[in-house]
Amino acid sequence: MTILENFSLKNHNTFGVDVSANYFAEVSSLAELRETLNYSKNQALATLFLGGGSNILFTKDYEGLVIQLNLNGISEKVLNEKEVLVTAKAGENWHEFVQYCLAKKYGGLENLSLIPGNVGTSPMQNIGAYGTEIKDTFASCQVLNLETLEMEEFDREKCRFGYRDSIFKQEGKGKYVIVEVTFKLTIKDHVIKTEYGAIQNELKKMGVQNPTIQDVSKAVIHIRQSKLPDPKVVGNAGSFFKNPSILLSQFLEVRKNFPEIPHYPNGDLVKVPAGWLIEQCGWKGKQIGNVASHELQALVIVNKTGSATGKEIFDFSAMIIDSVKEKFGIELEREVNII
Ligand code: EPU
Repeated sequence: MTILENFSLKNHNTFGVDVSANYFAEVSSLAELRETLNYSKNQALATLFLGGGSNILFTKDYEGLVIQLNLNGISEKVLNEKEVLVTAKAGENWHEFVQYCLAKKYGGLENLSLIPGNVGTSPMQNIGAYGTEIKDTFASCQVLNLETLEMEEFDREKCRFGYRDSIFKQEGKGKYVIVEVTFKLTIKDHVIKTEYGAIQNELKKMGVQNPTIQDVSKAVIHIRQSKLPDPKVVGNAGSFFKNPSILLSQFLEVRKNFPEIPHYPNGDLVKVPAGWLIEQCGWKGKQIGNVASHELQALVIVNKTGSATGKEIFDFSAMIIDSVKEKFGIELEREVNII
């Protein structure tokens, strides 16, 4: 176990914010993870786990120990001629894992191509895109209970997945670390999901009529690359806010003044795209200091100059929340974890 002191986290968060951690350790086995946790308990250190650092905003230096989870490995268990369980350790890069499954011709994750981050953090916020969420193929995950340091298994029900939500963001927050995730994927008779309008348009452009899982992945990659900034080029954490769901009565009130408001039914509620609300408030592409709202997708906040502090990004997001609240009476909620 190596514990580094005063460690810069600039290359460990996709916003590229230059903060440091008092202590930093990389762990590549379960034994090393337990050893590191014992150390932090004995030293009474606050502890933070990092995967790909793609959904986190550091607003200040971290006073404690940051543990980078580098657990790697993928294994498979064929269930029958149609289904396979594929297990990936927490430190596997999400997109590479999706590509691994596609190369094996396993279906179910193709709509989630090119999402930044690692496998281990995917259940926390039930990552989703283009009509799919990981809960659709999630079988179980193995977690380390931070109190007992024993392993526990969480099935789909126990994870209580919701829109960008799970038990790991609610009651289970800070209590567990996810060490591996198992997905139930299809070997044949794949369920192709192309209901999302943007996928249909892209497949048409590609001249594909009967799409395979590989075609869907390609279409998703094209769409994401055309709209979303690459964190390697400009710092960002994807969608900064959740899409809000509001009461029907509130929606009808807003629609009186904005008849063109896009909306989707969500049970008794109505979901409206945060990107649209933000764009209507004039934020799309707008830059203040080092921070901007992405010019092609207003829901994404970018570290435009590369020199933004976490505090600047946070303050920028607060201004967006205020103007959406003022114009529409709708309260946006941040999707990114603020530290
Ligand atoms: N829109 C605008 N202006 C904008 C952005 C969006 O008017 O600047 C409106 C348009 O009407 C558009 C609608 O919002 O039709 C939906 O936009 P988009 O398809 O880009 O999806 P989104 O709701 O903005 C969500 C996820 C994304 C995911 C896409 C595709 C959330 C918070 N975000 O965005 O996830 O890729 O759907 O499924 O749910 C992420 O979580 O980091 C992320 C990128």
